[in-house]
Amino acid sequence: MTHSLSSVNNRPASPFAFGAMQFGQGASESDSKAMFDACRTAGINHFDTAHGYTEGASETLLGAMVGDARDDLLIATKVGNTGDTSAANMRAEFDISRQRLNMDMVDILYLHRFDPNTELRESMQTLAEFRDKGQIRYVGLSNFAAWQVMKAQAAAQEFGLKIDIFQPMYNLVKRQAEVEIMPMCADQGITVASYSPLGGGLLTGKYAGGAGGRLVENSEYTMRYNVEWMRQTAQDLNTLAADLGTHPATLAVAWVAAHPTHPTPILSGRNVGQLRPSLDGTTYDMTPSLYEQISALSVTPAPATDRLEEVG
Ligand SMILES: NC(=O)c1ccc[n+]([C@@H]2O[C@H](COP(=O)([O-])OP(=O)(O)OC[C@H]3O[C@@H](n4cnc5c(N)ncnc54)[C@H](OP(=O)(O)O)[C@@H]3O)[C@@H](O)[C@H]2O)c1
Repeated sequence: MTHSLSSVNNRPASPFAFGAMQFGQGASESDSKAMFDACRTAGINHFDTAHGYTEGASETLLGAMVGDARDDLLIATKVGNTGDTSAANMRAEFDISRQRLNMDMVDILYLHRFDPNTELRESMQTLAEFRDKGQIRYVGLSNFAAWQVMKAQAAAQEFGLKIDIFQPMYNLVKRQAEVEIMPMCADQGITVASYSPLGGGLLTGKYAGGAGGRLVENSEYTMRYNVEWMRQTAQDLNTLAADLGTHPATLAVAWVAAHPTHPTPILSGRNVGQLRPSLDGTTYDMTPSLYEQISALSVTPAPATDRLEEVG
């Protein structure tokens, strides 16, 4: 089953997206605008933010940049990260997000994470309400397990809704999505927009040289990526990139995009200088043999059935 998202003006979603999570914090206002412009020049029309990012600055800054291009773009935001996904909280957060973005309609609305304390039926009914009011065009989920997506898909049916897009973490050292998420999305016609293609910066190799950045400044990211084998993979990717005369970020981004289910990597950075190697990844010629070579730098996760002997 296939599914493709498009803008109001019927432009197909670009195969790469940009994430505005740093806008107004890691990235200054002028650096944010410069990254937005560089993405537009590179053909990116899909921009991702969230109610919970940078205390609202991410949505406010992104909204101000969109201008006349609004109907050519796919704008995504998310609700229910720190708050729950009850109807009341979804309505309250989404109203604020639309005000910050200065948009009556936001193309994609995600539930930011699975909320074990709210019935999915209530969240799906609320998304249907937004759709019926013309406030959203596509339904997204993020950070759900595959079984939770399928449960949401079943709940959505009652309201004539389907899950259109899913946002998992996915990169060379975080490959869990390969096991169930990506095959499920391919089967269900759900677009995958995957985040953290650089492992929050790990795969650039900068931490081996003792550089500062998110992985030392943010304890969640330290916990996620301060793992010996991941550092080794980052180092091996750097060595390979040096041999090929390219940047490790370019390889990391191109590797994500080359997965057979064609996920849309969500790129990001603090400034255009950082973003450039990731943008180069959007046109990098990833041959099947290089894809295999990069894949071998980390362990391919076991299949869901654990029947290893039947793979391949
Ligand atoms: N749904 C979710 O729960 C969720 C979670 C995370 C992200 N997202 C989305 O996905 C987007 C991308 O995620 P991400 O920011 O984690 O992506 P990423 O590409 O893995 O990490 C980007 C970070 O890597 C570092 N970096 C990038 N290029 C670099 C370079 N050339 N040299 C050195 N460091 C470099 C910078 O961090 P430092 O400068 O801090 O080192 C940059 O902010 C976000 O903006 C957001 O829209 C969604």
